[in-house]
Amino acid sequence: MNLAGRSFLKLLDFTPEEIMYLVDLAGKLKWMKRNGIPHDFFRGKNIAMIFEKTSTRTRCSFEVAAYDLGMGCTYLEPDSSQIGKKESIADTARVLGRMYDGIEYRGYGQSIVEELAKYSGVPVWNGLTNEFHPTQMIADLLTIKERFGQLQGVKLTYMGDARYNMGNSLMVACAKMGMHFTACTTKEFFPDAALVKTCRDIAAKTGGSVNLEEDVETATRGADVIYTDVWVSMGEPDEAWEERIKALTPYKVTAKVMEYAGEQAVFMHCLPAFHDLKTEVGKKQGEKFGFTDLEVTDEVFESTQSIVFDEAENRMHSIKAIMAATLGLELQ
Ligand code: CP
Ligand code: NVA
Repeated sequence: MNLAGRSFLKLLDFTPEEIMYLVDLAGKLKWMKRNGIPHDFFRGKNIAMIFEKTSTRTRCSFEVAAYDLGMGCTYLEPDSSQIGKKESIADTARVLGRMYDGIEYRGYGQSIVEELAKYSGVPVWNGLTNEFHPTQMIADLLTIKERFGQLQGVKLTYMGDARYNMGNSLMVACAKMGMHFTACTTKEFFPDAALVKTCRDIAAKTGGSVNLEEDVETATRGADVIYTDVWVSMGEPDEAWEERIKALTPYKVTAKVMEYAGEQAVFMHCLPAFHDLKTEVGKKQGEKFGFTDLEVTDEVFESTQSIVFDEAENRMHSIKAIMAATLGLELQ
């Protein structure tokens, strides 16, 4: 498997074999880190990390992974560079491509990260756009594989806003890996019809399936993974809260949902999550709309079925694998 020089912009660009290679490489690098085996294969190389939206996991994962691989890194925070304001994406890409061996980008439209990749001449890694969150997918697939021993045939139900980066990405990931994906939400929050069609065509070849279902019990009975994300994503207007809470409250992950799924089921969330009112935004919205939790109850979040922190740790190992593979590492 040779992924050297490739950018990692969305899973649609990768074959199931390539995706599985990245998942397994992440597992190997995790084992090396746990066993204290040095893997600083890229000493002397440097990466740039552009964040036009905030982050905890993705930024820390790129930084720690870069250090473990022996690389230096530069963090460009929201509003701290000329990007998009005084300098075009194409010009920025050509400048950073002269200085760095790889570039991470988190921001708005997918077209921006695609343009960076087109002009930079070095691998570009998508750290989240409005449309896709592909590095999260390698971590999620690794986490699911660790739990169930395989990906093929695993049933994943995604509840909430299925039209945005997480819903889209999980639908693509499941289709590619022969898994059964169900978007469990109200019709207006179903993923884009063209993407659903693309994923159904992929699933027809891999043995997976893509289902859209409004009824919670039907969508969650027997599911292996119950997955959710925030109802209002970064960059969306404040006014969205009221409409989302009204529309998506029936799709909150509760103990009843986990009971429908069964004892074997796990709860996953890309994080950050509104499972209590211990955050500034959660408190404000909770008090305004009379809630103590939003997309998931605290009971489920803190339960033994919840594997959200294994999932968060795996962000680092999988981002390391993505960088290493695209920078030219081939581990036997
Ligand atoms: N899951 C995720 O991308 O988290 P951050 O926003 O903290 O990077
Ligand atoms: N849908 C969320 C994912 C955060 C990791 C957002 O875009 O804010």
